[in-house]
Amino acid sequence: MTVEAGVLERYSEGAEARQEDLCCPVDYDASLLKLLPQEIIDKDYGCGDPSRYVKEGDIVLDLGSGSGKICYMAAQLVGKEGKVIGVDMNDDMLELARKYEGEMAEKIGSANVEFVKGQIQDLSLNLTALDAHLKESPIHNAEDVIHLRAWQEKQRHESPLIADNSVDLVVSNCVLNLVHDSDKEQLIQEIFRVTKAGGRVAISDIVSDEPVPEHLKKDQDLWSGCISGALQEHEFLQAFVDAGFIAVAYDKWESEPWQVVEGIEFRSVTITAVKPQDEPCIDKGHAVIYRGAFSEVYDDEGYVYLRGQRMAVCERNFKLLTSEAYGDDFIGLAPAEEREGVVWNCQAGVLRPAAETKGSQYQNDSCCSGTSCC
Ligand SMILES: C[S@@+](CC[C@H](N)C(=O)[O-])C[C@H]1O[C@@H](n2cnc3c(N)ncnc32)[C@H](O)[C@@H]1O
Repeated sequence: MTVEAGVLERYSEGAEARQEDLCCPVDYDASLLKLLPQEIIDKDYGCGDPSRYVKEGDIVLDLGSGSGKICYMAAQLVGKEGKVIGVDMNDDMLELARKYEGEMAEKIGSANVEFVKGQIQDLSLNLTALDAHLKESPIHNAEDVIHLRAWQEKQRHESPLIADNSVDLVVSNCVLNLVHDSDKEQLIQEIFRVTKAGGRVAISDIVSDEPVPEHLKKDQDLWSGCISGALQEHEFLQAFVDAGFIAVAYDKWESEPWQVVEGIEFRSVTITAVKPQDEPCIDKGHAVIYRGAFSEVYDDEGYVYLRGQRMAVCERNFKLLTSEAYGDDFIGLAPAEEREGVVWNCQAGVLRPAAETKGSQYQNDSCCSGTSCC
């Protein structure tokens, strides 16, 4: 049996009856669970709580939505202006999640949740449309396969299941590890594609502390049980950096492993990341001060920030470094006067004199003007 077939079978069983060995204890926000039907709470196969990152008005995409628990929790937070889309490839899980759509819409006061059929490593392909197409045009020979490929390409292009740059927040709870290793890079690229510029990612999953040997990866139970498909702890973050995300970080880290197999620890973590704004880096005289406690830090573009020093930054990076993605690490210093921006061409690690930020009102003979950072 392939990895995917094993995962399909296991989660069809999980939709039918609660599977104790797939449940990892999670401390959810109890106030969001109150409205949920008991069946959805019981058939919870998550390992973290990415709903904590949802904001009012967000368009949220939940990868591998299962019984719909995270979607229905998120739906209470996004409100009427927001929307939640759950993607799953398993018909039984989709049926279970959809069973409560009407009831939950009434309780929440808004029909803001939708469950769609797709594979999370190929978020363009609408598997419901594919099912309908295969009914009309079944596969009998190799020529049919060639036609099917052409149909799929057209469908992906003309009516993608999830459009480019359409999601404010991508969440997932214990699913990325289930995707075949050879598809994992494409999976993270797909997450990047569908996230809006400036959009966020909050993914709870399992990581390993050592490489997972082949014989464990081949074990169907360990794979479909969210264990042996786990990426190693540094690989998980690096995969998001490689796809183009920034501010990639472990926000949650369970010190106690969930499982230990042959001495390898498998633990639950939650990572957060941001897709960069699609705007040029324009220098308008902004600076930031890195508070410490380290002597210096580097961002993913290679810029260095020295502890306590006024570092020159472009307006785009100023907004990012002083946003919640970086917590409280940076003090922002906006220029006192609006000045005409110039395209950023400064080296990493350039200081911005205080007089420059204060502008022409500041009476000082050594006052700088223009782009003195370079
Ligand atoms: C461990 S369960 C987690 C379910 C849910 N996120 C939760 O918190 O309870 C994994 C879910 O992901 C789905 N899944 C696994 N691999 C998938 C893939 N490649 N594409 C879409 N769904 C997938 C399974 O069908 C199952 O519903």
